[in-house]
Amino acid sequence: MTSPTPAVRRGRPLGGRFAPPGDKSITHRAVLFGLLAEGASRIEYANPGEDCLGSLRCAESLGATVRREGDAWHLTGAAGALHAPGGPLDCGNSGTTMRMLAGIVARSGAPVTLTGDASLTRRPMARIVTPLARMGANLVTAEGGRPPLTITGGALRGITYDVPVASAQVATCVLLAGLAAEGATEVRLPGPARDHTERMLPAYGVPLEVTAGAGGARAVRLAGAASLRACDVRVPGDASAAAFFLAAAAAEPGARVTAERMNLNPTRTGLLDVLAAMGADVAVTNAREEAGEPVGDVTVTGPERLRAFDVPAEWAPRLIDEVPAWVIAASAAEGRSSVSGAAELRVKESDRVVALARNLAACGIETEERPDGLVVTGGRPRGARIEAHLDHRIVMAFAALGARTDDAMTFDDVSSVATSYPSYFATLAELGASVEGGA
Ligand code: S3P
Repeated sequence: MTSPTPAVRRGRPLGGRFAPPGDKSITHRAVLFGLLAEGASRIEYANPGEDCLGSLRCAESLGATVRREGDAWHLTGAAGALHAPGGPLDCGNSGTTMRMLAGIVARSGAPVTLTGDASLTRRPMARIVTPLARMGANLVTAEGGRPPLTITGGALRGITYDVPVASAQVATCVLLAGLAAEGATEVRLPGPARDHTERMLPAYGVPLEVTAGAGGARAVRLAGAASLRACDVRVPGDASAAAFFLAAAAAEPGARVTAERMNLNPTRTGLLDVLAAMGADVAVTNAREEAGEPVGDVTVTGPERLRAFDVPAEWAPRLIDEVPAWVIAASAAEGRSSVSGAAELRVKESDRVVALARNLAACGIETEERPDGLVVTGGRPRGARIEAHLDHRIVMAFAALGARTDDAMTFDDVSSVATSYPSYFATLAELGASVEGGA
């Protein structure tokens, strides 16, 4: 995959307002829950990236009818009558699509194969194979529990499952299978994980019982098989997409950037807490609730001096997707900052510990890799040729870092940005960075 690649460097000081694309996690759920629902659902402000379009195409292959009007998607569900897809379902770059779809297709007695791109086919699927097999599905993977994944399901039974890693994708996969299982299904998460599924499923007519435990642990229980009814969703702005511009504002004295209608779900706002702890001014206005999620306009103003900060391990799940954005702030802070408790970084769209550390080193920023995170010493980054590792968040992090470099930040490939934020480079330029060519 090649596409023209832009060169990013310092332009005017960063400043302005922008509307991040719709939240990716919520868009995936709206599409896949809509597929299972009886009736027509409208999804407003859907994330326009390839990942969510991939979920939409998979939903169509399984019997949903879809009509797109810009970023409003109208989806009529297949409800209890999923179609047999004509071939393997392509989940592209998206682990969320694959893991959630696995829970859905586990109800069908005919085999369904899920596959994806070179990044996705390296990612671990044993985490969903184990619980789905316990529920009665038969799953075949490639070597090492990697995709492609062929699932032959049918008669499922509910289970109580202690999820070893606090993963919302795994919990959602098991709950989605539980919707077609005999008996109750309960997932127990050992620590904090995003809770969009618990917030959304009741709006589709599926009651869930949630019991909070210590330190962010929780149990989510579904009483038994359930059918869904259609639901309209107004998707809040994606905090993980906005993160790059907010961190870049924190990294530049006097810069001031506002993300409008951003999702402020507490399981997703760890980066804002970190930027505030580093000395950036973080202000929320217009706070309200949309689609069962807290949203608001978030303004970050860069302080004269940004302090180094060690992100406590227990915060890591609340900023796991924002660690690439965090490096923008950490590389501008005075001294050594660190993130720990983030071993999951190694199994995202790339091994992000490696991808971040190597690219930061190329930019002249001192970095140390740790098994569960990284240490970054603030300094003056220089432009470099970034290796994207087929990972949208690596591209977006270093492009935003480029807003601080005198010489150009260039990339081997920026096509992955289309998976979550197709207009990313345009917004980066609007906010003040110099962006030449490509994208
Ligand atoms: C997601 C959950 C997280 C996150 C991913 C999206 C979701 O992954 O990193 O980008 O939508 O549920 P895990 O569930 O593996 O922690």
